[in-house]
Amino acid sequence: MQVAVYAPATSANLSVGFDLLGLAVRRLDGKRLGDIVVAADFSEQDTNLARPGEPALAFAGKGKFIGKLADKLETNLVYKAYVLYRRELQARDHEVKPLALTLYKNMPVGSGLGSSSSSAVAALVALNEFHGQLLEKTTMLALMGELEGTVSGSAHYDNVAPAYLGGLQLMLPPAYAPYPGAPERPVKEGALTQELPIFEQWYWVLAYPGIVIKTEDARRILPDSYSRSQIIAQTAYMASFVHALYLGDQELAARSLRDLVAEPYREQLLPNADKIRTLLYQAGALACGISGSGPTFYALANNLATAQKLQEVFAQHYLQNEEGFVYICQTDFDGAVVLSEQEFAQFLRQEEI
Ligand code: HSE
Repeated sequence: MQVAVYAPATSANLSVGFDLLGLAVRRLDGKRLGDIVVAADFSEQDTNLARPGEPALAFAGKGKFIGKLADKLETNLVYKAYVLYRRELQARDHEVKPLALTLYKNMPVGSGLGSSSSSAVAALVALNEFHGQLLEKTTMLALMGELEGTVSGSAHYDNVAPAYLGGLQLMLPPAYAPYPGAPERPVKEGALTQELPIFEQWYWVLAYPGIVIKTEDARRILPDSYSRSQIIAQTAYMASFVHALYLGDQELAARSLRDLVAEPYREQLLPNADKIRTLLYQAGALACGISGSGPTFYALANNLATAQKLQEVFAQHYLQNEEGFVYICQTDFDGAVVLSEQEFAQFLRQEEI
């Protein structure tokens, strides 16, 4: 048995929703922008990495960006996913099967496109499919958050949730302690995130300049507290964005994509940040900003001709080296998917693996 799972790239924050919004994206040209993990039966030819007494395990890494990952197995996200998954199965009196895992690392790390989440989600979904879906969605999402937290320092779901579930995902408030005397109102089970409507005709032009910014570094430079006026303004933008989505008001939604929390502090980490916004707006962008914790920058258009102009601006003014790229994307409403044999073969052909 063999199962290949693809989890798409994601753009977290969308300026207005720091740590609260995440969007799954797909390339308009049909090529994959996300990682693939294959779980297959362990075979005689595989090198067994398991300790004595444990079910056999083999691991391999392939793909354009595999060289950017540390060699050590223990730090590899797919291996960590395996360890977490095994823990959950054991807690339910099940054991993992002997298996061989292969990661196709198709996304640059530290890019602001949810690279680690893509690996984490693809790995956990592949493991779960391989074991006949022993874990349900809520547990899976919680595990994905936990896994992502091992990379960025704290568990956020703004990349894993859209990579798993697709579309635009809003993170819901945690189950916090009630005011003294107020009744306990636990969050409905499973309600970690909520899908929001998003304009299908919106084009997200995503430009990765080719340099690396670690999420933990991009978080360290943020202030610990914000002023009352900043909090009020940010809450207003977020509320009007969500309101506009339900209203179907593209203009208001785009106008609400503003960030006072992270972008003003993070721009210093980006190449040409002072100039790029002006150029993008001159070329017709409805909005623009940092994708996740950067350095990828996004620009929004509601028609292809404008999206192509934005792509041109990025290509000329934002890409720093050969590893950089700029893709016109739209929302991916599928999230993580099991690939058919044909789809997987097509991916291998396209990426020349
Ligand atoms: N919301 C995160 C940040 C992105 O901007 O730091 C990674 O989850």
